[in-house]
Amino acid sequence: MVAVKFPIAYRVSERSWWLRYLIATGFVLVALILNFLPPAQNLPFLFFFGAVALTARVCGFGPSIYSTALSAIAADYFFLHPGTHWGFSLIDILRMLLFASVCLLIASLAQQRSKAQRASEMNQARLAAIVQSSDDAILSKTLDGIITSWNKGAERLYGYTEAEALGKHVSLLSPPELPNDIPMIMSKLRSGDQVQHHETTRIRKDGTRIEISVSVSPVHDLAGNLIGASTIARDITARKVAEETLRKTEKLAATGRLAASIAHEINNPLEAVTNLLYLLRKNPSLDEKGRKHLSFAEQELERVAHISKQTLGFYRQVSSPSRIDVARTLESALSVYTHKLEGRNIRAETKWESGTEIQALAGEIRQVFSNLIANSIDAMPRGGTLTLKVSKSHDWGNGNRRGVRVVIADTGSGIAPAQQSKLFEPFFTTKRDVGTGLGLWVSKSIVQKHEGFIQVRSSVRPGKSGTVFSVFLPESKPASVAA
Ligand SMILES: Nc1ncnc2c1ncn2[C@@H]1O[C@H](COP(=O)(O)OP(=O)(O)OP(=O)(O)O)[C@@H](O)[C@H]1O
Ligand SMILES: [Mg+2]
Repeated sequence: MVAVKFPIAYRVSERSWWLRYLIATGFVLVALILNFLPPAQNLPFLFFFGAVALTARVCGFGPSIYSTALSAIAADYFFLHPGTHWGFSLIDILRMLLFASVCLLIASLAQQRSKAQRASEMNQARLAAIVQSSDDAILSKTLDGIITSWNKGAERLYGYTEAEALGKHVSLLSPPELPNDIPMIMSKLRSGDQVQHHETTRIRKDGTRIEISVSVSPVHDLAGNLIGASTIARDITARKVAEETLRKTEKLAATGRLAASIAHEINNPLEAVTNLLYLLRKNPSLDEKGRKHLSFAEQELERVAHISKQTLGFYRQVSSPSRIDVARTLESALSVYTHKLEGRNIRAETKWESGTEIQALAGEIRQVFSNLIANSIDAMPRGGTLTLKVSKSHDWGNGNRRGVRVVIADTGSGIAPAQQSKLFEPFFTTKRDVGTGLGLWVSKSIVQKHEGFIQVRSSVRPGKSGTVFSVFLPESKPASVAA
């Protein structure tokens, strides 16, 4: 059934009274003219009934009573008797009363219908306003997945305007790595099921990924046939990031507790080894080479003790920042790896500039260099070149601060672009069995504590692969490093 709507009705019935009565007069006049046409001669009142019904719907109840009266007068004068004169006999008055009653009945029915239609249209308008102003993305689609409606929330969430989205397939929003997600939702819908709070990833117009929670419900027509689906999607990217951060923090806290208990356990053997090394140093039969190895062993042991204290959490920053020569510190960190470099056929090239002194915590800076060198060695299992450079530099971006720049470059495997953004995250490692994924994270924290920065460039192009880490450390004692 086709529903005839009179949108003008509300506008007219809400306007001035004289306009409504003028329109009512117009309807009756038209009915009068139509009544003179040959087909209406046998049913003279038909068009008047129509005029009254129209008046009720378009102009309201008052004008419809007026048009009833007007129609009754016109019918009496023009049609009840041959010729044009008034009929006042009892039968004429009864006929007029009957005519007026039918008109009033029609008017009241038409008025009721208008009210119901008006209520329904207002309801629809209210619902449409709610959908439009919703923060959530609300869209509807056919069973084939063609988008048929698209609210402002969807525009904001996905970046496509309504005009761009309408008529397109919903797979427009599907990231290539999830090709089965939308077909799975559509097949559930076709079998009449709902999809509730399904968490997934979608792709925006600008190519960025968003995490959403989506609920999809089937839409039926009045006869109960499944004709499409409505989708409500909510951006949960911020919640996901918060969850991920919490997960990492919990992982870190657990690791911290574990590390603290391990550190506690290794403190005693550590002390024993320190004493043994001390006794070894006192041994007069130790030759020069042995002494050199011994002093390396002592340095490394000191570092282990330092890390153990830090991990335990009762490290009281006993060491204070001192003036260190960055080139010497890097050289000393490199010397520990001499055997490893030889064993792997890695050539080390060094270029030190003189006067590269800064105020810093020597042990921590050494740890940074050691981590970066160890990573470079790991990246060159079949040999290569390790280049280390130290030079005086400036941080151009931040008030032209003076400092030292350290470059540690290798000709190793390189780091794939997809992995570069994760490098400094805790626990990110590609060395499944041997790496903890904490090396770069710790290094970055130390460099940032010294108010410096660390950058990476890397290439995986065959024949030209390699990685360059560069570290800037400011010359003056940063406030973040306690005195
Ligand atoms: N010079 C490099 N060349 C190639 N990949 C590198 C290089 N430096 C770091 N990486 C990559 O970054 C990852 C993270 O390094 P990071 O030092 O944080 O952890 P790790 O070396 O895996 O473990 P560990 O905690 O023992 O250092 C490495 O697993 C490796 O994939
Ligand atoms: Mg490492």
